[in-house]
Amino acid sequence: MKRVKIFDTTLRDGEQSPGCSMNLPEKIEMAKQLEKLGVDIIEAGFAIASPMDFKSVEAISAAVENCTVASLARCTKGDIDAAWNAVKGAKHPRIHVFLATSDIHMEYKLKMTREQVLKRISDMTAYAKSFCDDIEFSAEDASRSDWAFLAQCYTNAVRAGATTLNVPDTVGYSMPQEMAALIRYLREHVEGIENTDISVHCHDDLGLAVANSLASIQAGATQVECTVNGIGERAGNASLEEIVMNLRTRKDIYDADTGVNAKQIYRSSKLLSNITGVAIAPSKSIVGANAFAHESGIHQHGVISNAQTYEIMKSTDVGIPQNTMVLGKHSGKHALRDKLSSMGYDLDDATLESVFVRFKDLADKKKNITGADLEALVLQGQNLVRTEGSCQFLSHVINTGNGLPNTAYVKLERDGKEMEDVAIGTGPLDAAFKAVNRMLNMEVKLDSYGLNALTDGEDAIGEAIVKVSVADGESYTGTGLSTDVIEASIRAYVNGINKIIESGNLSAVATATPTGWGEYVLASDVY
Ligand code: KIV
Ligand code: ZN
Repeated sequence: MKRVKIFDTTLRDGEQSPGCSMNLPEKIEMAKQLEKLGVDIIEAGFAIASPMDFKSVEAISAAVENCTVASLARCTKGDIDAAWNAVKGAKHPRIHVFLATSDIHMEYKLKMTREQVLKRISDMTAYAKSFCDDIEFSAEDASRSDWAFLAQCYTNAVRAGATTLNVPDTVGYSMPQEMAALIRYLREHVEGIENTDISVHCHDDLGLAVANSLASIQAGATQVECTVNGIGERAGNASLEEIVMNLRTRKDIYDADTGVNAKQIYRSSKLLSNITGVAIAPSKSIVGANAFAHESGIHQHGVISNAQTYEIMKSTDVGIPQNTMVLGKHSGKHALRDKLSSMGYDLDDATLESVFVRFKDLADKKKNITGADLEALVLQGQNLVRTEGSCQFLSHVINTGNGLPNTAYVKLERDGKEMEDVAIGTGPLDAAFKAVNRMLNMEVKLDSYGLNALTDGEDAIGEAIVKVSVADGESYTGTGLSTDVIEASIRAYVNGINKIIESGNLSAVATATPTGWGEYVLASDVY
């Protein structure tokens, strides 16, 4: 069976999509999860793009053991120097150079002739090769390039030392049969291509990124570039989970597989959504909330008689936790450890302890704790920030009603000290967030707010997702869980603020000292 390499670009092309930016600890967390998922290559960023991008690529290179770590670089010495300096600490470094080859990009963007492009590819691939053995060359907008010229570009890249040739459908324009024909053409016309990996990188503008990637595999591609949840520029990139599960479910057609541990798919998808605050559409294939739900009576009856009547995959194949009761109020730490371990979570003692505390807290409010609840608790724990100066939510009281001012009392702990404040707002959340702002003496702006039910039933866990920022600063995603949606929202708000504090953007953060009871905001300020 053919082995297809998975090149994950969630942290580079994926991060370029609106609302998906991640901070350094989040990128490292995600990179470690990608390693557990079993991807072959992690494209960690575009090192020259900003000092933050450089730092992220460098930190991921140090944090990852088994995967190759790649940095993107344009065909310039400055980009290649930055890429190499960022990945050189990796166990398996790769430099990924690219240059556009379509007539429209060469004329209007690069303002270069075909001859100049050919020479630049040779020179810069050789320059990258002088640092690193593993070189990928991408011909940007390959699918709209002249095929004969494109073959010449790839031939030059191979001669200069490229070990992977990537064929991007940059604008998502290709049809599957065209992509397949292009791969077959290149296999015949590029000198030395038999000694390289052939990669494809498909965008989803026409909804065909996965279909194009699969058609390319059938035509001989040995690497696919993709992202978790299909995030990426514009309509996104090919979705990793869809490619992996297509190959696995239709082995009869593709006779190909990847090194991905499919049981880590759901967790990777949830972690990304948790970090970025970008929700997964319920109907999203493989990882959406409805992907394995059977609503109609006919379907339910069929599935009960024989699951294969309507199911081509099992939800457990991709690691979706069962929604059945797994633990209760009286379950102890051992039972929790065993259950988590059977779900694939082997936590160290300190992490288990903190999950256990949150588990007990939840069990007080919710009778039956399901696999989905436990998964949420673990993911939430990964997202908690515990650096110096960060705050922990302790308690709240809300007074709300029709025609009454909405008042919120919130109590937090910061560096071992308890602090509390009260405020009035246009709604209970506005009041609670104002109380937090005043207590911390921060001008925090709420950029967006969302709420999801993570589990079913009247005692479902609510997950609040906020994006918060301080003056002219980056927006940070905070998430919070609780069976009480107001508590979940305050937790999310505090989690987002902790990320601002952790980022070191403290210019906007006064050194907060416990203020005790603050001054009340006058109702007339609000109404
Ligand atoms: O879409 C694209 O062409 C890219 C390249 C840089 C590989 O992202
Ligand atoms: Zn792309």
